[in-house]
Amino acid sequence: MPRLSAVGISGLQAGEDVNPVDRFAMTPTPLRLAARDALALTELPAKLSAVAALDLATPCGAELALTPPAPLPGRPARPELIPPSQLAQRGLGTREGRAALIHALAHIELNAIDLALDIVWRFAGLPEAFYRDWLGVAQEEAEHFQLLNAHLNTLGHQYGDFPAHNGLWDMAERTADDLLARLALVPRTLEARGLDVSPGIQAKLRQVGDLDAVAILDVILRDEIGHVALGVRWFAEFCAARGLEPVAHAEALRLAYRAPRPRGPFNLAARRQAGFADAELAALDAR
Ligand SMILES: [Fe+2]
Ligand SMILES: [Fe+2]
Repeated sequence: MPRLSAVGISGLQAGEDVNPVDRFAMTPTPLRLAARDALALTELPAKLSAVAALDLATPCGAELALTPPAPLPGRPARPELIPPSQLAQRGLGTREGRAALIHALAHIELNAIDLALDIVWRFAGLPEAFYRDWLGVAQEEAEHFQLLNAHLNTLGHQYGDFPAHNGLWDMAERTADDLLARLALVPRTLEARGLDVSPGIQAKLRQVGDLDAVAILDVILRDEIGHVALGVRWFAEFCAARGLEPVAHAEALRLAYRAPRPRGPFNLAARRQAGFADAELAALDAR
């Protein structure tokens, strides 16, 4: 009986048999399981290739009840994680200051990869389209990380060189038991905040002549509007299924989780493109 591996299927001749162990090896790993395992990887190159290799046409395994294989997320040994209040504020006038900013943005993107993988493996029983949407997000976040890290390299640094904080993953842990809270507080709040702050960061980078970084942030902003749009749409859909009004429920969750009130200036055009309702935008703008 021929021994077949997952990659050796094309060598199978008509009429040849496959033993049950080999047949199992040929079954593609369900996407939710692959997402969990990618999230647990500690080495960046391995995590980035695992995310890029996710084939979104593979079955998701929506009903699988999964448990963490290891402490999540897997993280490289560096950067050192410290409280946000201890992070040094650097101006952008120096190369070092610019590198620190690009590093902070790369760290956000790495967290965004982890958050997108986490929503996929953690919450079972959802539509396949939901899982595929967030795995597509994970792949875009990985591209964002790589763009920023490559730029960081041109400034003489690499990811891990500066300390960073763990605020984004904290929100993943706090909302681990509530899908609606996760959607309300991560894509609908944290990623939407990214839309608001992008133009200001770009203006500062333009001022110091870092047009490569400005161009990278253009790509990221365009993609992030799509991520926020997914958050807005899935949140509204799951709210509707539970008979909840999404804008009121988002505010109730913000209060329940003691998330900070969104602060302006808001990127209303980007938020509108992401599907926030006019009434919600007007309420934000009136604050
Ligand atoms: Fe991103
Ligand atoms: Fe994102």
